[in-house]
Amino acid sequence: MEMTDDSSAESAASGGAANSLWGGRFGAGPSAIMREINASIGVDKRLWRQDIAGSRAHVAMLGARGIVSAEDAAAIDAGLQQIEAEYAAGGLVEDLALEDIHLHVETRLKEIIGPAAGRLHTARSRNDQVATDFRLWVKAACAEADAALAGLVAALLARAEEHAETIMPGFTHLQVAQPVTLGHHLMAYVEMFGRDRGRFADAARRMDECPLGAAALAGTSFPIDRAMTAAALGFAGPTRNSLDSVSDRDFALEYLAATQLTGLHLSRLAEEIIIWASQPYGFVTLPDAWSTGSSIMPQKRNPDAAELVRAKAGHFLAAFTRLSVVMKGLPLAYSKDMQDDKVTVFAAFDDLGLCLAAMTGMVASIRFNAGRMRAAAASGFSTATDLADWLVRAGGVPFREAHEITGRCVRAAEAKGCDLDGLSDAELAAIDARITPAVRSVLSVEASVASRTSFGGTAPANVRAAIAAARERLG
Ligand code: ARG
Repeated sequence: MEMTDDSSAESAASGGAANSLWGGRFGAGPSAIMREINASIGVDKRLWRQDIAGSRAHVAMLGARGIVSAEDAAAIDAGLQQIEAEYAAGGLVEDLALEDIHLHVETRLKEIIGPAAGRLHTARSRNDQVATDFRLWVKAACAEADAALAGLVAALLARAEEHAETIMPGFTHLQVAQPVTLGHHLMAYVEMFGRDRGRFADAARRMDECPLGAAALAGTSFPIDRAMTAAALGFAGPTRNSLDSVSDRDFALEYLAATQLTGLHLSRLAEEIIIWASQPYGFVTLPDAWSTGSSIMPQKRNPDAAELVRAKAGHFLAAFTRLSVVMKGLPLAYSKDMQDDKVTVFAAFDDLGLCLAAMTGMVASIRFNAGRMRAAAASGFSTATDLADWLVRAGGVPFREAHEITGRCVRAAEAKGCDLDGLSDAELAAIDARITPAVRSVLSVEASVASRTSFGGTAPANVRAAIAAARERLG
């Protein structure tokens, strides 16, 4: 049934039947609006694989512990496998009256195997069930994010290697500061996305505990084996406190926090691509596959994918805040507020996948215009620091004084309308006698970058070493 199905709304509004799975103490069914606000099937149907896996692990344990007969356990498991095959083949038919994925599966099981289906929910509650399903889902989402980030990092490493010697301006305040290599600039993002991978891995490790068996909130009097279900579902072990098990959504928040930082990093790279692609810069050209045109201006090539990645970073920030606000101040243990966790996480997951795929595609295929980058790197007296450093090294001048002398050279070059390299030996010597022709060795942008060999510096040799080390480290 659809949300907007009038017949269901009418029957419920006129006092339809109480819920068949929890309606024993109710005389009448919920109102149509109650049904609509309460149902989560439209969202949590995405958990169907996890839900069935959780139920299969649970019933295997119930059978092993003699809590249900081997016969019933086998019938339930066979029924669950049939449902899995049905959903895989044709999806599920949504029914608002059945609220969520848990009741859909259980109701279908009853249709298939009859009353024995009622034994599946022994020693379990939807509270520990949904916590388990969702953890399984988010754990897999962390692994997916990691794999997608690894792909982006691989693309960045390949381009960095190609451009280990390509010179571009390094900026501070978006003002030309010192020349750097493009490879070095790209490797800065390798560092960021490497940390993001670490955050997803770390979150996945912490959420690797199984809440199943916490039941509604207090545990259960049945002799269950929580270690067995945890192991069957691929968790490192069971959670330790039943109240925490059903009320914790830190795992979802940690996923969103890692997503938020990844999005933030993606947005910075997206922003640089947008700036670099604009005509006054002309540092890059996006291939047709990653550009869009304008319906009125025939000459346009717009970096829409990068702009949308930049925009979606805002959604990730909002997603973390949104779920934090849902969880803030909730008393222990489960409250229905928590049902609203999934819509936020699923949307962030979908957007993150798109953003990482788009960014990987752009990085792999973007054309860098090395000539434009080099020309810009040489502008803005970008080797002024090199001149000051040379005065310190070659002339024994204290750095502060060297800074002042270099400032005068910049002023002279500005007045003459040339770069520092455009001042003659005589003009330089007139500013300070300690500036000899040997200074030429540091005034070019090539000499400047080649000299920055300190650990983590921009020299091409360092960039190559950093790429090799990153390949080793990140695997
Ligand atoms: N659909 C619910 C959710 O996602 C399942 C848990 C329902 N628990 C309850 N006590 N009503 O949160």
